[in-house]
Amino acid sequence: MKEPSNKGMRKGLTSYGDREFSLFLRKAFIKAMGYSDAALELPVIGIANTYSGYNACHGNVPELMTAIKRGVMLAGGLPVDFPTISLHESFAHPTSMFLRNLMAMDTEEMIRAQPMDAVILIGGCDKTVPAQLMAAASANLPAIVVVSGPMLSGTHGAERIGACTDCRRLWGMHRAGQIDKDEINEISGELVPSVGFCGVMGTASTMACMTEALGMMLPGGATIPAVNADRMRHAEEAGRRAVQMAAEGLTPDKIITPKSIANSLRILMAIGGSTNGIVHMTAVAGRLGIKVDLDAFDRMGRETPVLVDLKPSGVGYMDDFHKAGGLRVVLREIKHLLNLDCMTVSGRTLGDEIDAAPKPWPQQIIRPIDKPLSANGGIAVLRGNLAPRGAIFKQSAAGAKFQKFTGRAVVFENIEDMTNKIDDSALDVGADDILVMRNAGPIGAPGMPEAGYIPIPKKLAEKGVKDMLRMSDARMSGTAFGSIVLHICPEAAAGGPLALVRTGDQIRLDVEARGLDLLVSDEEMDKRRQQLPARQADDSLRGYRKLFLDHVQQADEGCDFDFLTRRPFTDKTP
Ligand code: FES
Repeated sequence: MKEPSNKGMRKGLTSYGDREFSLFLRKAFIKAMGYSDAALELPVIGIANTYSGYNACHGNVPELMTAIKRGVMLAGGLPVDFPTISLHESFAHPTSMFLRNLMAMDTEEMIRAQPMDAVILIGGCDKTVPAQLMAAASANLPAIVVVSGPMLSGTHGAERIGACTDCRRLWGMHRAGQIDKDEINEISGELVPSVGFCGVMGTASTMACMTEALGMMLPGGATIPAVNADRMRHAEEAGRRAVQMAAEGLTPDKIITPKSIANSLRILMAIGGSTNGIVHMTAVAGRLGIKVDLDAFDRMGRETPVLVDLKPSGVGYMDDFHKAGGLRVVLREIKHLLNLDCMTVSGRTLGDEIDAAPKPWPQQIIRPIDKPLSANGGIAVLRGNLAPRGAIFKQSAAGAKFQKFTGRAVVFENIEDMTNKIDDSALDVGADDILVMRNAGPIGAPGMPEAGYIPIPKKLAEKGVKDMLRMSDARMSGTAFGSIVLHICPEAAAGGPLALVRTGDQIRLDVEARGLDLLVSDEEMDKRRQQLPARQADDSLRGYRKLFLDHVQQADEGCDFDFLTRRPFTDKTP
């Protein structure tokens, strides 16, 4: 007798102890929405609907779903959308990173629980694409990522502006008294002139580009603006392709490999992308038992030039990047550094896709490899007695003065302490001091918020100080800039040496030597370690916060939950 198929609506039947009854009941319910029996026999393509009234970065998701559904039906499939958590950076307390793993769990379990033969994940805002990639890697069902696309840039007088590098720069000018209340309010109406994710090379743009380089997005999809007609055509094509992928069984484990992860890390460097990209890709890789080797990542940085001239490191916006040809131009420029045999969701290799990309044209935004923006990648991995498991420094966003620098630490105990003191005229701080903040990591904050962009103390900002060396166990928004050491690991709350720094200590940063050291003797550090107060257990913790604090891992492990990373690692990035 022919085995019953385990595809489409027959997948993952609810347990009633009678398969045929389970299918009968499932069909009875879904037919209430008007489906015919013939439609219910087709391959099912799930669409993760991340529309939310709180999330302007996903404001075009309804139109994208329409286009995706058209593509699925043109290819003979049945599209079914389902909601998942949606995260927007400014609408997630205490920080969206705290909720990334929850979104990843939600997405993974909904892919597993509901009948679908392939899934299209509509992401965009910073944490959504990482969460969806983590989910896709664990669920291992054929999957394509479609992003909402970057927003357009706006104008303020004669100046082009856009979220969110300009948000920070203009707010800094407001803090320094150069922009008054009325003007800053006027500016807030132009910073986000359309739906879509932030239009600079922040975390969302970085993750979109890394996802395309990883092979989990159709070629060209990272940079198309959210409001362009081409964005809808790209979505339609993803729908069409998902039906084919379901038939081919092209699962994420055939696409996400150590070599394709290395490609995405190369692209992170070449685009001068967000430091958050390394944390997120480490979490994605961990889902498949692949370790991201930070030292290999640092080596890649030394070999990979920064080619894309976008804010926050450069001058342009994502719509400029798209008009210049988008990511495929960058991929072609660094082709010799990429693993070209990696499979992509298109069914062709990355090398095939680069060869098939449109020919380049004259433009100013993407530099040729022999005329890079900077010869070295944007991100350095630091180590030393202050960061035994590593720290990150975005060279391309930092001042030349701070590439080798020793200064006096001015320590803030936590984010609140920093917020309370930073503008106090009595704060003992000078322009050559180093601002140090701790207890802002995965456990300490919790959720490792983007608090690493410590503002310049008001009394110094008013004197014209624009940059200082700052360091913490926090992350930083990809749209921010400045001389900032981030992700100091282990974090202070996990007993890292950052907990031992005292105001007045000297700290040495040497980017070329990749060193970050507290200039205090080992004996003194041991003495201070013994004096640290024991961390008190909080018996009132409950729910997701308890799950998070009990299981979140450190930055070098991607801040994923320990029970979601596949261990032991069986591979690592080359
Ligand atoms: Fe969503 Fe910047 S707030 S991408």
